[in-house]
Amino acid sequence: MNKNFAENLYRLRKAKGMTQEQLAGELGISFQSVSRWENQQGYPDIEILPQIAACFKVSLDALLGYRSEKIMTTHYEQKYCSEEYYWGNQVWDGCYEVLRKKPPMEPLRLLDVGCGEGQAAVFFAKNGYVVSAFDISERGLEKGRYLAEISHVSVDFFHANLLDYQVENDYDVVYASGVLQYIPQDRREEMIKNLKRHTRRDGIHILNVFVEKPFLETPPDWEKTEYFWKSGELLLYYHDWKIELLEEVIFDCDSGGVPHKHCMDVLMARRA
Ligand SMILES: C[S@@+](CC[C@H](N)C(=O)[O-])C[C@H]1O[C@@H](n2cnc3c(N)ncnc32)[C@H](O)[C@@H]1O
Repeated sequence: MNKNFAENLYRLRKAKGMTQEQLAGELGISFQSVSRWENQQGYPDIEILPQIAACFKVSLDALLGYRSEKIMTTHYEQKYCSEEYYWGNQVWDGCYEVLRKKPPMEPLRLLDVGCGEGQAAVFFAKNGYVVSAFDISERGLEKGRYLAEISHVSVDFFHANLLDYQVENDYDVVYASGVLQYIPQDRREEMIKNLKRHTRRDGIHILNVFVEKPFLETPPDWEKTEYFWKSGELLLYYHDWKIELLEEVIFDCDSGGVPHKHCMDVLMARRA
């Protein structure tokens, strides 16, 4: 536990751009204490742990490095460890489509499903949407919170597993990029229905999914928990909504360090 705590504290402090002195100042303790903890030479008092977790907006489990065996993670947890942003600082073109098709002339609520490190969520918040965003990766969420903080916008980042998430609020925009392949085929209808039920009138969904093609190899970093979609399958779940955009694209990618190609279907649909 001590090693995990020490590493987490160092990583969180660096990600927030704080010095040991600044953290110590915020906690009302000496910077030597912070230095001792990070060097694995001692533990903080138990009473101060919630204060440290609150300072970095993480759970106590995340701070201490506890992870239930039952919690499903993906390889992104590891990829998001570095201070660099794995997905860079550009957002997918679909984000601009949202601005064009559903501009926030009034306060609009947007849900980013599988938000990763939060680049799109922060982009939408900067453009005036009221944004909630979830992911299964605690590290991705931490980086999203930091990005929101330095961008001076507010985003409600929360931890959830797409496979058992019950949508609580109603949204004007549901955005999901690069994540729906984690839903097995037999769960897709139910999960998309759930998102549709929580979409306001005239609200939109913009989604992309990885599609299997016989002439393309499976990407080298494809996980056992990822399931390809079929070409056109997205349409099945939106036959009762107005389709405003539907396209299939093939593009180059070098995630995982090996150049490969992806086929992706993109759909934007509007609730009548
Ligand atoms: C390819 S990344 C896309 C991230 C982000 N949407 C973007 O475009 O930058 C896939 C994301 O899905 C998340 N993810 C995988 N399985 C998930 C699940 N069951 N529930 C929620 N998020 C999940 C991963 O942690 C990862 O951040």
